[in-house]
Amino acid sequence: MRKIRILPSILSADFADLGADVAACIQAGGDMVHVDIMDGHFVPNISFGPMVVQAIRKSTDALFDTHLMIAPADPYLEAFAKAGSDIITVHAEAGPHLHRSLQAIRALGKKAGVSLNPGTSETAIEHVMDMIDLVLVMSVNPGFGGQSFIPGALDKISRIRAMIAGRPIALEVDGGVTPANAGEVAAAGADWLVAGSAAFKGGRSQYAANIRALREAAESAIGLAA
Ligand code: DX5
Ligand code: ZN
Repeated sequence: MRKIRILPSILSADFADLGADVAACIQAGGDMVHVDIMDGHFVPNISFGPMVVQAIRKSTDALFDTHLMIAPADPYLEAFAKAGSDIITVHAEAGPHLHRSLQAIRALGKKAGVSLNPGTSETAIEHVMDMIDLVLVMSVNPGFGGQSFIPGALDKISRIRAMIAGRPIALEVDGGVTPANAGEVAAAGADWLVAGSAAFKGGRSQYAANIRALREAAESAIGLAA
């Protein structure tokens, strides 16, 4: 049976109190921590690096889903693995050697993910389907939180769901996910929903309600509601 996972993106967390916010979003019902790494080169913004990931690692036992929006990625894979990432996702657009990057992630003993920008076809991952644990469909152009969901992502999600064809690969969506569109996202075939602004809005007292609203919208759309 499908299971919906909600992954708070800590790009929207309180950076002045990041460790506490990581713990809070998991206590509030988040299933894993989505960690956004931006280099000011592959995407037009800079977030933080492996030292910060290592520092917040002790705040929770939840899995760290590390989304590398950096190019090149290969020179930094080991650092993000050692910092405590459980899943490491690289962008298909980040370099010419996607296959090599995925091999390197698995050689480090981590789960390997591949992400696609809104303008990239799912055909980019056709030849790596047997070496990945996760596909991350971007539903905004990566770089910033708080952008609007690009509806064309839904069709791409459905096509990737068909390509997965029963393999043990998670299908994750990232960007502009809210309770208003989480149902469509789940119905299209996604099972991991990343949420930055929709998870962290309103301050710590609201995280649990925010995460519950996302989960309920997704689950009810696919007939899983309690
Ligand atoms: C965007 C990041 C996202 C971002 C999502 O480049 O990869 O994970 O934090 O934020 P929202 O949910 O606000 O679009
Ligand atoms: Zn992300």
